[in-house]
This record gives sequence, C-alpha cells and structure tokens, in this order.
Amino acid sequence: MSQNTDSFLTRTVHDLLSLKGRTIVVTGGGRGLGLAFAFAIAEAGGNVAVIDYIDTPHDHYYKLEKDYGVKVKLYKSDVTNFELLKGTFDEIVKDFGGIHGLVTAAGICVDQPFLERPPESVARSFNVNVLGTYYAAQLAAAQMDKQDPSPESRCKGSIVFIASIAAYVASKGQATSDYCSSKGAVVALAKSLGVELAAKNIRVNSVSPGYMATDMTLSQCHRFPWLGDIMNNEPPMRRMGDRTDLKVPIVYLLSDASAYHTSDDLLITGGIHAGRLM
Ligand SMILES: NC(=O)c1ccc[n+]([C@@H]2O[C@H](COP(=O)([O-])OP(=O)(O)OC[C@H]3O[C@@H](n4cnc5c(N)ncnc54)[C@H](O)[C@@H]3O)[C@@H](O)[C@H]2O)c1
Repeated sequence: MSQNTDSFLTRTVHDLLSLKGRTIVVTGGGRGLGLAFAFAIAEAGGNVAVIDYIDTPHDHYYKLEKDYGVKVKLYKSDVTNFELLKGTFDEIVKDFGGIHGLVTAAGICVDQPFLERPPESVARSFNVNVLGTYYAAQLAAAQMDKQDPSPESRCKGSIVFIASIAAYVASKGQATSDYCSSKGAVVALAKSLGVELAAKNIRVNSVSPGYMATDMTLSQCHRFPWLGDIMNNEPPMRRMGDRTDLKVPIVYLLSDASAYHTSDDLLITGGIHAGRLM
C-alpha cells in the first residue's frame, strides 16, 4: 500500500486542529461543559448545532451566536426520545448540509443512596446518560456514513462522548451508583463503536473529566462546603478543573489532529484517577 510519509512537512498543527467548514452537534450544549465545547468548536472555525431540552440557554450562548462568525443554532429536543431526536438531526442536516462531529454532553447526576433510589429515577439516569448517548451517536454516524470523507484524513466524522472519572472510581462524598455505572457504559460504548465504525472511517472516543467547575458544581460546593473541600483539595493538582482545560482536547478529538485515534478514553482529572491527596 502506498502511503505519503512526508505529509507532516505540509500539514501544520494549525491545519490539523482546524474545524473550518465542518458542522459539529453538541448535545447538552445549552450550558455547562457542553456550552464551553461549543465555544471551542466555533473558535476552531466549526459551525455548531446545539441540542438541549432547556427552554433558555445560559446567557453566554447568545454571545456565541453573535460574535464568532460561524453558523450556530439551538435546537430544543430530548436525547431520550429517539423519534424526537431523529427529527432534530434531520432538521440539522437540512439547516447545515451535513454533520462532521458529535459531542454528547447531555447528562444528569443524582445524589441519593443506592437503597433509596426509586426505579423511575434510575431509569431516567440511564435513559439520559446511556441511551441518549447511544441514540445521538447512531443518528450522527448514519449521517456521517452518507457523506464524503475528508480528503486529507479519509475520516467521515468524529464522535466524542463525555463520560466521567466516575466510570473508574466511586464519587467520594456522594451516592451516585447509577451515575457511575452509566458513565462506565459510556466508556465501553466508545471503545466498542470505535472498533465497529472504523471500517466506515468514523472515529469514536470519550473524555472522562474529573471535578469541573461549572455554575452547577460551584453552587453544589457552596451548599455543601465539605464537597467543595473534596473537589478542590483531593486532586493531585489541588484544584477543580476549569472548562478551559477541556477546550483543546475536545477540538483535538473532533479534528484531523486525532486522525489515528479511536476507541480511547481521555482522563482529564488533575491526576485524581491515579491517586487522591488529603
Ligand atoms: N461538571 C463536572 O464536574 C463533570 C465531570 C465529569 C463529567 N461531567 C459530565 O459532563 C456532562 C455535562 O455536565 P455539566 O456539568 O455541564 O452539566 P449541566 O447540567 O450544567 O449540563 C448538562 C446539559 O444537558 C442538558 N440535558 C440534560 N438532559 C437532557 C436531555 N434528556 N436532552 C437534552 N439535553 C439534556 C441539560 O439541560 C443541561 O443543559 C454530563 O454528561 C456530565 O455527566 C461533568
């Protein structure tokens, strides 16, 4: 097989990380981590289709729509409802012309002891965190498969799941049995789909963040100072993660910079997956 071994001389790091001309779907992008990912994508030149079920996104969303010179649109939908979500993906393809990437940030986390969890609440967690991820990936991959690959990387699309450190270790100070197990499923799904979809030139990876500072987590730390203490002082790097810490890893996984990278999970935790400080 002939392979150009000199392309590293012409394809710069800047070119490899560009998302120019691509459309990326971000589920749960109305606030929190997903909204920061939407900014990262826009900064790399990509168009962004945001899916969320909240009626009003965070104020920052409007800045993204206005200031970045790329196409940005918000779709109200529910990742747990396959038919509704399919309609949303159809609309996105009509509006944007195609889908080249997906980031699944829609997720929920309930803190309640295992023996007290009602079945409906457990089912809701798995529906959002696992089935919502599965459905979005299926709809995105079906569209990517119909499209032409990138001439440089031969990749038709890249899918990035947002999993969690909770896939690996129990959440200290919280009772999150269903969250931990659902995120384990998300990591396993990325591994399995990366293998299955490689033949279609679609890459699938996940990112497992540690404790990340968002409006939600900061208000939690405010209400439960002992939780704030765990989140700030136990990571070896002695701080919570900032959403900025995830921007480039997300762009990397979506772009041609990661053209040979699939079926992986990136742990971005300040070291907490390897050990905790007291
Ligand atoms: N914040 C952290 O410390 C942290 C750490 C590791 C992993 N994560 C994961 O990152 C993702 C984002 O977390 P976040 O902290 O930004 O949470 P968040 O609650 O601020 O944002 C989640 C978004 O998902 C949307 N959403 C929820 N259910 C939905 C549904 N059924 N359909 C469509 N949209 C839906 C919400 O409306 C919200 O806008 C989640 O999957 C979470 O598990 C977060």
